[in-house]
Amino acid sequence: MTRKPFLAGNWKMNLDRRSGVALAQALAARSVTWTGRDVAVFPPFVYLAEIARSLAGSSIAVGAQNVSDEKSGAFTGEVSAAMLKDVGATLVLCGHSERRHLYGEDDRLVNRKLHAALGAGLDVILCVGETAEERQSGSTEPRIGRQLTLGLAGVSEDDLERVTLAYEPVWAIGTGNNATPAQVGDVHSYIRGMLAGIYSDMASKAVRIQYGGSVKADNIKALMGVANVDGALVGGASLQSEAFLGIVEGAL
Ligand code: PGA
Repeated sequence: MTRKPFLAGNWKMNLDRRSGVALAQALAARSVTWTGRDVAVFPPFVYLAEIARSLAGSSIAVGAQNVSDEKSGAFTGEVSAAMLKDVGATLVLCGHSERRHLYGEDDRLVNRKLHAALGAGLDVILCVGETAEERQSGSTEPRIGRQLTLGLAGVSEDDLERVTLAYEPVWAIGTGNNATPAQVGDVHSYIRGMLAGIYSDMASKAVRIQYGGSVKADNIKALMGVANVDGALVGGASLQSEAFLGIVEGAL
């Protein structure tokens, strides 16, 4: 089964309106030559509508970095999946390590957010990954297994088609310290095996698994060469057009 590479840029809480639009325009201009890959950017909420307009007509999708697990109502400061869809987002990140570790999101909340997104017709990137302590204590697989089982609870095999997984070791995010190809290969094949157990071999083989954590133009080729790596979720290197273009264009 061939899986189309998927490169995504998570802008986090960076860039302002002008620099975000300039970045989106630079990507859109180059995207006319891209084939055989999916590309998405995840701007901050307040810029979503404008970035979606800047990318309209290009093949680049726009996603949100977070979503409420609730549909509507008295939830001050929250943004619903329907609102995201309304302003042009087609995807959402669920369970990013910064949401889990800085904002205390647990697997059950991540699962509720994932269902809110799928229910509104958005696709999802579900992020999983172990901390340095978990890796040192040999609990990488149980930790990721739990994030997968609880994160995907209640997701049907049909809906799994709208989910991408991102393996992001917490210790590799924003540190310049990326996981070795062997470490990445081990975890990606573990994830693929877990998915086959929860769903079916066929469904598991269709799911794309991105790697994230200090991905750069100079390491994307090596990472993409690892079995079961189907793309990347990029933070820091997605903030500058040349750096992100180097990743998108170096991926295949
Ligand atoms: P990084 O972030 O590329 O800056 O390490 C990755 C991420 O958090 O998705």
